[in-house]
Amino acid sequence: MLITGAASGVGHLLVQLARLAGFSTVIGAVGSADKTDFVRSVGATSAVTYPAMPSSGADVVLDGAGLLGDALAGLRPGGRMVFFASGGGTLPAYDLPARGLTVTGFSMGRFARTSPSAYADQSARLWEPARSGELRAMVDSTYPLASAADAHRRIENRLNRGKVVLLP
Ligand SMILES: NC(=O)c1ccc[n+]([C@@H]2O[C@H](COP(=O)([O-])OP(=O)(O)OC[C@H]3O[C@@H](n4cnc5c(N)ncnc54)[C@H](OP(=O)(O)O)[C@@H]3O)[C@@H](O)[C@H]2O)c1
Repeated sequence: MLITGAASGVGHLLVQLARLAGFSTVIGAVGSADKTDFVRSVGATSAVTYPAMPSSGADVVLDGAGLLGDALAGLRPGGRMVFFASGGGTLPAYDLPARGLTVTGFSMGRFARTSPSAYADQSARLWEPARSGELRAMVDSTYPLASAADAHRRIENRLNRGKVVLLP
């Protein structure tokens, strides 16, 4: 599995969940080399920096960084990409039939609204490894609520590794 934005608040959890789900190879893709140690420390078996993608090709790509075409390049023929980033642009559509690729979108909010019972089941499953300590949300930094703008600046500047927490 290849995960883009792998050091991010969501990405570093996906790296851990991919390992827990049994993926023996989990490649964390990040925007700068200073994040590679972090993604390895949470379980990635290797790390790459954009836009370079592993040439061997992943079965599944989770694209949370909005790389789209570059992320698609990381898939093996017949592979599958799940796109969940808020930003993004366009896909090289002909790659889909030419390489037999599948792309799907996912939104947790939409999933919760449209399939509340499946959402509750999946959430309960996620809490189990969190309770046991197998899944750990790493805290990058904490800010008092009054300094929310500083917290946002850290995120905007792509400096966080893990979660940025606002304290009430
Ligand atoms: N669909 C859903 O249900 C769902 C749920 C939660 C979050 N999301 C989305 O998933 C994405 C990741 O969320 P998150 O909480 O993990 O975010 P985050 O902690 O703020 O990290 C986002 C990361 O995206 C990368 N990035 C790539 N291009 C960027 C750009 N132009 N500007 C800023 N960052 C850029 C950066 O990592 P690098 O420097 O390593 O590239 C950045 O650290 C966001 O787009 C978020 O809106 C979707």
